[in-house]
Amino acid sequence: MARKNQTLGEFIIENQTSFKYTSGELSRLINSIRLAAKVVNHEVNKAGLVDIIGAVGGTNIQGEKQQKLDVYANEKFIHTLTNRNIVCGIASEEEEDFIAVNSQDENNQNKYIVLIDPLDGSSNIDVNVSVGTIFSIYRRVTPVGTPVQIEDFLQKGNKQVAAGYIIYGTSTMLVYTTGDGVNGFTLNPAIGSYYLSHPNMKFPENGTIYSVNEGNYIHFPQGIKDYIKYCQEEKGNRPYTSRYIGSLVSDFHRNIIKGGIYIYPKSSKNSNGKLRLLYECNPMAFLAEQANGKASDGFTRIMDIDPVELHQRVPFICGSKNMVCKAEEFMRATK
Ligand code: AHG
Ligand code: MN
Ligand code: MN
Repeated sequence: MARKNQTLGEFIIENQTSFKYTSGELSRLINSIRLAAKVVNHEVNKAGLVDIIGAVGGTNIQGEKQQKLDVYANEKFIHTLTNRNIVCGIASEEEEDFIAVNSQDENNQNKYIVLIDPLDGSSNIDVNVSVGTIFSIYRRVTPVGTPVQIEDFLQKGNKQVAAGYIIYGTSTMLVYTTGDGVNGFTLNPAIGSYYLSHPNMKFPENGTIYSVNEGNYIHFPQGIKDYIKYCQEEKGNRPYTSRYIGSLVSDFHRNIIKGGIYIYPKSSKNSNGKLRLLYECNPMAFLAEQANGKASDGFTRIMDIDPVELHQRVPFICGSKNMVCKAEEFMRATK
């Protein structure tokens, strides 16, 4: 039973036995994510004081400018997860290929793989606005003790065992699910412990916030244009309020608490949108559904999409159930 203000450590131990494949391995994995998150949090908080702001001068596999903190966070998470030898494979938004973690060693009986967006919303770092980390955990499908394969990573979102995010905001929070609801823990930086501050998080079924980069409006599909106009119409509880931070984690976090919809559609510039199915959309979709919300590409449930490549992008509509259903209605009407 979740108790407000219990520590994350206590919560993990108490809930371990209710998890159907319990062996302690998943608990250890979540534990090392919380540890890496503390280290990254420390660095994010120092941005401005130390030489960590700005771009490194390179681009990642997706051709995007890498920020110093992108690289730092990537290294920290990979390092922590490999050093503690608790996973058999990792894939990161910042790495071209997946990383096999001693998985060829027959003594490595680890069965979990992790997919991670080490720093989400990194363009916000320089301006002191919230960023995040997103993670997604699956059980491998190939035999333990053999090298991990691409098919261990290209699983549908509905096979996720756990998923979550860390938001480095006015306070730092870890929000995650193991398929039994969503719980949010706030870091007390003085003590270094996370406390359960947001038990059993749920999206309000109806919200009044829409989050979309309207600068791309003219490139959007007609269904999304029509939905945006619907949000702006003066009728009932509309017009809705527009809020867009430009960091999925932060926009999602606000919307789960207040009720709202996040949209990153395909456009005439990006035929599949921008967000990555495996590192961003699937984990957020799992959290959304566990919190009574919904996530769709406009027509299909995100978690039912069959991934074909590691860095695949998909259109993403996610948030309060009735709002996502309405946006889908507009998409279908103009198909
Ligand atoms: P990342 O920093 O990991 O590349 O992700 C940024 C993503 C997402 O977090 C955010 O909502 C979106 O990109 C913002 O994109 P636009 O600037 O195109 O609106
Ligand atoms: Mn991201
Ligand atoms: Mn990122």
